[in-house]
Amino acid sequence: MILVALACSDMGSDVPYGPNIYNGGGIILSGVLVGDTTKLNLSFINSGNANLLVWDFYIGGEDSIDFYLDSLENDTITILPDSIETLFIYHSSSSPGSKSAFIQFSSNVVDKGIISYPLTAHVNVFPTSYASNVQPIFDTNCSGCHGSSGELNLSSYDNLMLGNSTNGPVIIPGNSAGSYLIRKLNGVNITGSPMPLGGSITSEQISSIATWIDEGAENN
Ligand code: HEC
Repeated sequence: MILVALACSDMGSDVPYGPNIYNGGGIILSGVLVGDTTKLNLSFINSGNANLLVWDFYIGGEDSIDFYLDSLENDTITILPDSIETLFIYHSSSSPGSKSAFIQFSSNVVDKGIISYPLTAHVNVFPTSYASNVQPIFDTNCSGCHGSSGELNLSSYDNLMLGNSTNGPVIIPGNSAGSYLIRKLNGVNITGSPMPLGGSITSEQISSIATWIDEGAENN
């Protein structure tokens, strides 16, 4: 959750507006995942000495469909002096990439007209999951041989990461090309035979494992 404080006042005090506020970038969300719903707090602080009115909330711009307000779109909110009112903006995206929109509103602050703030979200795809994407490949293709014996055991994350192989750790988090397990599957720069011995797995399966390693080889 991100808190953005906009200090608005209708009588004489400082009223920041436009992109100068909040590091010049508006509201920035990073590392959100596709499908996540993220709630943003937008707090209006009335630092003046008369009621602050805010109305005409509107979210527009290229990716405005990814951002929405829970309510208030047609309402006017009244904020008493020395009070704070919080509005919620939600973000949810069905595709990865950088999403940009803006929120704008009007207030009774003299001379400020329509106030607009950028909204930006950097959306990532779901990381590859060990439990859902990787372990099932091992269960089907590898565990028959790499099971409970003392050598490389592919029956669980902990066993995989133990490094109990004759070649040391077989996974280097973040480096699939250097990881011995991937080299064994691709038959590149190995001793012994390419894996799976006597069987085969698809290039998509190899790339799922490689992506999971490149994403940090987490127990996820
Ligand atoms: C039919 C049995 C069999 C299957 C199935 C099999 N392996 Fe192996 N694996 C072996 C044997 C035997 C060795 C040791 C000899 C060698 O390295 O060629 C080995 C070695 C390895 C090594 C190197 C271990 C070390 O100690 O350095 C890795 C990594 C590996 N296998 C991964 C896999 C993966 C991943 C799968 C499934 C996609 C798989 N293996 C399927 C029998 C198998």
